[in-house]
Amino acid sequence: GLVNSRELFKKAMEGGYAIPAFNFNNMEQLQAIISACVETKSPVILQVSSGARKYANQTLLRYMAQGAVEFAKELGYPIPIVLHLDHGDSFELCKSCIEFGFSSVMIDGSHLPYDENVALTKKVVDYAHQFDVTVEGELGVLAGIEDDVKAEHHTYTDPAQVVDFVSRTGVDSLAISIGTSHGAYKFKPEQCTIDENGRLVPPPLRFDILKEVEKRIPGFPIVLHGASSVPQEYVDEINRYGGKLKDSIGVPEEQLREAAKSAVCKINIDSDGRLAMTAAVRRVLWTQPAEFDPRKYLGPARDELKKLYMHKTQNVLGSAGKA
Ligand code: G3H
Ligand code: 13P
Ligand code: NA
Ligand code: ZN
Repeated sequence: GLVNSRELFKKAMEGGYAIPAFNFNNMEQLQAIISACVETKSPVILQVSSGARKYANQTLLRYMAQGAVEFAKELGYPIPIVLHLDHGDSFELCKSCIEFGFSSVMIDGSHLPYDENVALTKKVVDYAHQFDVTVEGELGVLAGIEDDVKAEHHTYTDPAQVVDFVSRTGVDSLAISIGTSHGAYKFKPEQCTIDENGRLVPPPLRFDILKEVEKRIPGFPIVLHGASSVPQEYVDEINRYGGKLKDSIGVPEEQLREAAKSAVCKINIDSDGRLAMTAAVRRVLWTQPAEFDPRKYLGPARDELKKLYMHKTQNVLGSAGKA
C-alpha cells in the first residue's frame, strides 16, 4: 500500500539525497512518474494540489494512487509510494484527504501570522498522527503564485523561528523559503548574469539560510518547493512549435544537486513536467497536423515526461537506486 514519508526521509537524510515529489493531475503523468521511478528504483512522492483534486476528482485520484502501487509491482519492482496533499490550506481539506487515503499532507500556513500558522499546523498534526499520516509545514513565503496567494517578494525563512515551530507543532518536515518560487518564471532576466554560452544565470539560492536552519534543527527533514529547473530545450521547443514563452528561468540543476546532499529530503517539481508535456504535444500537433487521436500526442508527451523524471532521480536528486 501507500506509505507515509517518515522512513523515506530518515533514509534520505542519512544517504544525502532527496525524494522526488512530482505533481500529477492525469493518467499519463501518473504512468510516467511510476514507470520512471520503477525503472530507476527510486522512492516517490505523488503530489496532489487542491487544483488537481478539483480537476481530477478525489475518488478517481484515490484509486489512481492505489492503482499506482499495483502498477509498480506489475512493472516488476515495488517502490515506496507516498500520496501527499500539496499546499493544503485548511484543516478541513487535510482531514478530508486523510479520510480519502492520503498518507501525507501539507498544511501551508506560511502566509498567516506566525502564531496562527503554529496553531493551524498543530491542529492538523494532532489529527493526522492518529492515522499515521505525516505532515509538512511551511515557514517563510515564496515569491510568486502559491495557489490563490500571490507574493511580490520572497520572505525568507527566519532560522530563529524553526526550533519553536517544529517543537510546538510536531510537524514531520518543514518547507522553507530560500529563493525558489513556483512556476516557470522564477527570476527576472535583469536579476541574472550571462555565462559564456549566452545563457542567463540566476542569483544563487540562499544556502546560508539553509545552513542556519540545519544548525538549529539537525537531522530534521527540510522541503524545497518551486524546484523546477525550466530546461531551455523545452522552452525552445515550445516556442519553435507555436508557443510564446518568454524569459522563463528556473533553478539550475547544480544547485538542486547540492541541496539534495543537505537536510533537504523532498524536492517539489511540477513545472518542468508541464513544459515537457507541452513541448511534446506541440511538436506532434505542429508536425503532424492531420493527427487527431489523443494517444498520438499524449503518448509522446508521456515518453518525454518519463525521460525527464528519470533524469531527475538519476542526475539531480540522487534518489535512483534507493528504493
Ligand atoms: O504549488 C503549485 C503546484 O505546482 C501545483 O499547481 O495548484 O496549479 O495544481 P496547481
Ligand atoms: P515548480 O513550479 O518549480 O515545479 O514547483 C512545484 C511545487 O513546489 C509544488 O508544490
Ligand atoms: Na538530502
Ligand atoms: Zn509548492
